[in-house]
Amino acid sequence: MLSIFSCKHNPQEDIKPDLNQNYTNDSVSFQTEILPLLVGNCAMTGCHDAISAAKGVVLNNYNNVINTAKVIAFNPNNSELYEVLLETDANKRMPRPPAPPLNQEQIALIAKWINQGARNTHINRCDTNIFNFGAVQTIINNSCIGCHGNSNPQGGINLSNYSNIKQQAQSGKLLGSINHITGISPMPKGGNKLDACKITTIQKWANAGYLNN
Ligand code: HEC
Repeated sequence: MLSIFSCKHNPQEDIKPDLNQNYTNDSVSFQTEILPLLVGNCAMTGCHDAISAAKGVVLNNYNNVINTAKVIAFNPNNSELYEVLLETDANKRMPRPPAPPLNQEQIALIAKWINQGARNTHINRCDTNIFNFGAVQTIINNSCIGCHGNSNPQGGINLSNYSNIKQQAQSGKLLGSINHITGISPMPKGGNKLDACKITTIQKWANAGYLNN
């Protein structure tokens, strides 16, 4: 099954984000908000990474998200990407159980992005002056939890709560993985490296003593 899909699919090069648009405070950023959410929750092995490409859907870059998940700008209700999130039938809903559904806030963000035209926006709102545990958890929830949640933590690494995240941080693996240090698997697996601001935020939280603040 999987091999049929993977042979059929040939992921294209991604197109460059448009950095020259006028953004408002309300604009959703595809590259820093939507894509990490999709890679973290959907682009795992066996699902929608470039190799597995279940049903031809690949959620690893802008081009593929728009084309393979049939996103129609300004029209979330007719966009497959959005429709599958709202499915009440657990066998059709994405992400598939045992993975939990996206939360209301995440679903609303995807709808908002499509309603704003589903553009390839890249707006960096990360602020390295805010490096409490809440900021760290937001990064992990957006980029890691789909593969490292409670239901089926990949590689045996669970990042769903403070004590587990602290443990991975103290072992050096958390930062090693996001900094792509030799000898540790680079994370997020199959996605782009976290941007420098997010890595710095996690580093500063660790340096300050891994507080639960
Ligand atoms: C698409 C799925 C996926 C995503 C997203 C993901 N991981 Fe992983 N992670 C894995 C898998 C699978 C492994 C097991 C090792 C391997 O196969 O590379 C792993 C292993 C790890 C390890 C252990 C590495 C080692 O070499 O011991 C750490 C730490 C880790 N992940 C942290 C993260 C963090 C932090 C994020 C988010 C920034 C993240 N992961 C996002 C799938 C993922």
